Amino acid sequence: MPRPLYAIPGAPVPPAGAAVPSAAPAPALPPTTVGEVLAGSQVQTAIDELEHDLVGLAPVKQRVRDIAALLVVDRLRLAHGLPAQQPSLHMCFTGNPGTGKTTVAMRMAQILHRLGYVRQGHLVAVTRDDLVGQYIGHTAPKTREVLRKAMGGVLFIDEAYYLYRPENERDYGQEAIEILLQVMENQREDLVVILAGSADRMQTFFRSNPGLSSRIAHHIEFPDYSAAELQAIARRMLDGLHYRFTPGAEAAFAEYLRRRLAQPHFANARSVRNALDRMRLRHASRLFAAPDRPLRRDELQTIEEADVRASRVFDAPAD
Ligand SMILES: Nc1ncnc2c1ncn2[C@@H]1O[C@H](COP(=O)(O)OP(=O)(O)OP(=O)(O)O)[C@@H](O)[C@H]1O
Ligand SMILES: [Mg+2]
Repeated sequence: MPRPLYAIPGAPVPPAGAAVPSAAPAPALPPTTVGEVLAGSQVQTAIDELEHDLVGLAPVKQRVRDIAALLVVDRLRLAHGLPAQQPSLHMCFTGNPGTGKTTVAMRMAQILHRLGYVRQGHLVAVTRDDLVGQYIGHTAPKTREVLRKAMGGVLFIDEAYYLYRPENERDYGQEAIEILLQVMENQREDLVVILAGSADRMQTFFRSNPGLSSRIAHHIEFPDYSAAELQAIARRMLDGLHYRFTPGAEAAFAEYLRRRLAQPHFANARSVRNALDRMRLRHASRLFAAPDRPLRRDELQTIEEADVRASRVFDAPAD
């Protein structure tokens, strides 16, 4: 359980307007080192977990560390009586499907909470349909209800570019955008908004909504994964599920990735997850076919080369 803001040892008195439970115990001595702030907040654990659990994404991880550093230094500034203006932390995550945007947004919510930036650290993930109504008068209440749920945490708007539909003369998406803009400006100490979508569509969206773009402090790009990274992601996913590849299956999966990457609609880590799900199905069917044979623990865990090679991806001739 992350500790609430008021329990962080040496937490300085928060700036006026920050929402803090009134029963906060009197703070101990204010922190004087980065280490003290980190030790009190468990944020280092969250950063280490991000580093360890997610393959690649070096620029993304660096930005997360930079944001954490800013918030830690702000705490130390406050302890010295220096003004520490609540920074704007609204973000935009651009990248192709399956590059880890949703996953990182959840980690970000946790880190922001541990640093005392948001009260609860929960993430509310929505798309256009959760915010925009079909009829006149429906959009504002829908958007406000979502904002109410997200307060104290992170509002993650996936495929945010759908909010703007210029082809419709009176599109209710614009109404949702206007409400969002107000809240992003006026309640930024209590809500972080993260917009996500593919880079080209988000660029077009921001060109039509410069007000929104200018309120986003961090534009973070999620690159496509290399074949080696995808292979490492597969290993990590299997490990998490207590499965493993035989060496033959590992090599076959490398070939699978080479072929699959050349095909359309490849969705990075998401496609890897889906491929592993299908391989587990084939593994299960293989074991199912021999109902009377006692199954060893390692057999129940081991994906073999045949489970990989039965994929349709191997039907097409390799180029
Ligand atoms: N770098 C990574 N290391 C390990 N697993 C990853 C990594 N990136 C993504 N994943 C896993 O891949 C899956 C898809 O990731 P996620 O949903 O975060 O991608 P996304 O960018 O939000 O995709 P979409 O645009 O399709 O919503 C998740 O199960 C996630 O845990
Ligand atoms: Mg996602």
